[in-house]
Amino acid sequence: MEGLFVLLCILFVANSCTNISCARVGVFSAPEQNTFNVIDYGAVGDGQFDDTQTFLTAWADVCGATQGTPTLAIPEGKTFLLGPVAFQGPAKPLASIFSEQSARKGEDKWIQFSDISGLIINGSGEIDGQGASWWESCKSSCQRPTALSIHKCNGSQLTGIRYLNSAKNHISINSCSGVCVSQLQIIAPDESPNTDGIDISSSSNITIEDSSIGTGDDCVAINGGTFNINISRVTCGPGNGMSIGSLGAHGKYETVEEVHVRDCKFIGSQNGARIKTWDGGAGYARKISFERIALENCRHPIIIDQYYFSDGKNPKESSVAVSDVSYLDVHGTSSDEKAIDLNCSKHGCINIVLDHINITSSVPGTNAYAACNNANGTAAFAVPSVPCL
Ligand SMILES: *[C@@H]1O[C@H](CO)[C@@H](O)[C@H](O)[C@H]1NC(C)=O
Ligand SMILES: *[C@@H]1O[C@H](CO)[C@@H](O)[C@H](O)[C@H]1NC(C)=O
Ligand SMILES: *[C@@H]1O[C@H](CO)[C@@H](O)[C@H](O)[C@H]1NC(C)=O
Ligand SMILES: *[C@@H]1O[C@H](CO)[C@@H](O)[C@H](O)[C@H]1NC(C)=O
Ligand SMILES: *[C@@H]1O[C@H](CO)[C@@H](O)[C@H](O)[C@H]1NC(C)=O
Ligand SMILES: *[C@@H]1O[C@H](CO)[C@@H](O)[C@H](O)[C@H]1NC(C)=O
Ligand SMILES: *[C@@H]1O[C@H](CO)[C@@H](O)[C@H](O)[C@H]1NC(C)=O
Ligand SMILES: *[C@@H]1O[C@H](CO)[C@@H](O)[C@H](O)[C@H]1NC(C)=O
Repeated sequence: MEGLFVLLCILFVANSCTNISCARVGVFSAPEQNTFNVIDYGAVGDGQFDDTQTFLTAWADVCGATQGTPTLAIPEGKTFLLGPVAFQGPAKPLASIFSEQSARKGEDKWIQFSDISGLIINGSGEIDGQGASWWESCKSSCQRPTALSIHKCNGSQLTGIRYLNSAKNHISINSCSGVCVSQLQIIAPDESPNTDGIDISSSSNITIEDSSIGTGDDCVAINGGTFNINISRVTCGPGNGMSIGSLGAHGKYETVEEVHVRDCKFIGSQNGARIKTWDGGAGYARKISFERIALENCRHPIIIDQYYFSDGKNPKESSVAVSDVSYLDVHGTSSDEKAIDLNCSKHGCINIVLDHINITSSVPGTNAYAACNNANGTAAFAVPSVPCL
């Protein structure tokens, strides 16, 4: 197997609540009953022995528990080596955990939780993907795994853990509703390939708050099939910023609606508030707001790019419709003079609102400016001015 993985002092808690909200962060305490400690199942935790099987055996008992808050406890102060591991929810028979795992050859996920209601992943530990060997040996020729994948979940909460150096994206949330992510730290080098912080797809009612994400790619990527996503008090950088999309690749129909990014900071990132769609796609990205955004040396603070991976020549007949996007109180410095870039397809972006913008160039002697292509909307109290809107 390529790459080794280390897991430190984490507490995985699975319970049956389906209406967890961020308000519970900090008031929940680990239950004493129904706690299944991996050490009791023979996990060694010396960073050398492969503890994958012991974790799965303990997880089977977590899923089998009928009372209280079943908890998989991973003790502090140890380092656990894990191979690809799928923690399947109680809805599925145990046998499928093992067969699914051994059948999975591509290993595109390292730690996966699926079909679980009320999963809480909390603790003071870290999940280290040890991605460096993958970044060099397998840029695009082989499949690199996502560190933590949560698939088909309800009322889930991720809090407190540090995620380091994933081989690919750090956290993927897919087909979930009601997920609260808070107080995470995600760290990978600026030059590490495709190491997105958090990717969200086909999910609704997701909150991400009070976290810091600095990686080689998107801070948070909000992909197709998403609705009602709030991101607050997140610091991004280095990396590619907060991205809606990319959407509409290869003619796909994709939708994103009700995304609100508030009180976030972009420090030294390639982009800030970014919407990227492919020429020729379909669907929509609408009701999106970026509010109270602070910038420090951010390259493209405000960018809509409807020609992602295209030279813009011979534009196709369709595009993802972008509408009702607002930028309120965005201030700070841009490292590129083109601080505001609203590059819409020939169908136009509708109702783009800029209000109380103050972006100055961080390069001495240069002035920030705004450029538009087929953008429709209004700008007020904007520095630089946006005469093209
Ligand atoms: C769900 O929320 C309701 C109303 O806030 C509360 O009464 C109930 O106890 C919650 N259920 C769980 C499992 O937390
Ligand atoms: C997370 O764990 C910490 C202790 O490590 C605890 O103080 C906190 O209440 C827990 N929060 C949740 C949501 O479980
Ligand atoms: C999520 O909640 C709904 C309604 O409460 C339930 O029908 C569904 O099975 C749950 N999904 C999972 C993965 O637990
Ligand atoms: C999302 O939250 C809204 C209320 O904020 C609720 O009406 C809706 O049912 C939720 N949807 C899902 C899929 O959880
Ligand atoms: C996001 O914030 C809006 C208020 O702007 C609120 O109506 C919505 O319920 C929030 N969604 C989530 C998932 O918390
Ligand atoms: C829009 O994108 C196309 C393709 O990348 C490029 O040729 C064009 O210059 C851009 N226009 C603006 C206003 O940024
Ligand atoms: C914009 O920001 C600069 C630098 O912080 C400041 O000097 C200037 O007064 C601000 N302009 C407005 C209109 O707020
Ligand atoms: C853009 O705005 C102008 C003037 O308000 C209007 O005539 C035009 O139809 C609008 N275009 C789109 C694509 O909405």
